[in-house]
Amino acid sequence: MSILKVARMGHPVLKRVADRVEPEQFGTPGFQSLIRDMIETMEEYSGAGLAAPQVHVPLQVSVIEVKGNPRYPQANEIPLLVLVNPVITPLTQEKRLGWEGCLSVPGLRGAVPRFTRIQVQAQDQNGDDLDFIAEGFKSVVIQHETDHLFGTLFPERMENLKYLFFEKEWDRYSEQLPQLPVID
Ligand code: NI
Repeated sequence: MSILKVARMGHPVLKRVADRVEPEQFGTPGFQSLIRDMIETMEEYSGAGLAAPQVHVPLQVSVIEVKGNPRYPQANEIPLLVLVNPVITPLTQEKRLGWEGCLSVPGLRGAVPRFTRIQVQAQDQNGDDLDFIAEGFKSVVIQHETDHLFGTLFPERMENLKYLFFEKEWDRYSEQLPQLPVID
């Protein structure tokens, strides 16, 4: 296993649409070791999720896991989830603003509007179909990671750049902010 180098905002691999994983790729040692390395990299850098383009691999694969994460101390736990070729369908038009960070946008936090309830259709690491509904923080992380697979970073989703902070200033001053508005 290895910890992989994370691409940062500006790298072309983060701006392109990643390739779908083809059925014959699932069983290969390279694909399985990519997933293991992505999980190890996510844990090493305390990410809530990691998408393959962030480790310079333009494939539609992401890993998600939250348990006792120092970057997200308030967040509910999310058991390890591997999403391959995910398709997201919003189940409501309601969006809510929440704070996000990204290993590819180090040092920054921003308030990003996300759908509050989504349907997720994808495959797991073995190529088996997944179909489930996600809400709350889990749905936010899935939307963030899936955006990576289509060349989008969280600042591009922001509607008000007044809510873009450096982490240190966010720690210091975010409690003074008015509560984030809910967008309907
Ligand atoms: Ni990210």
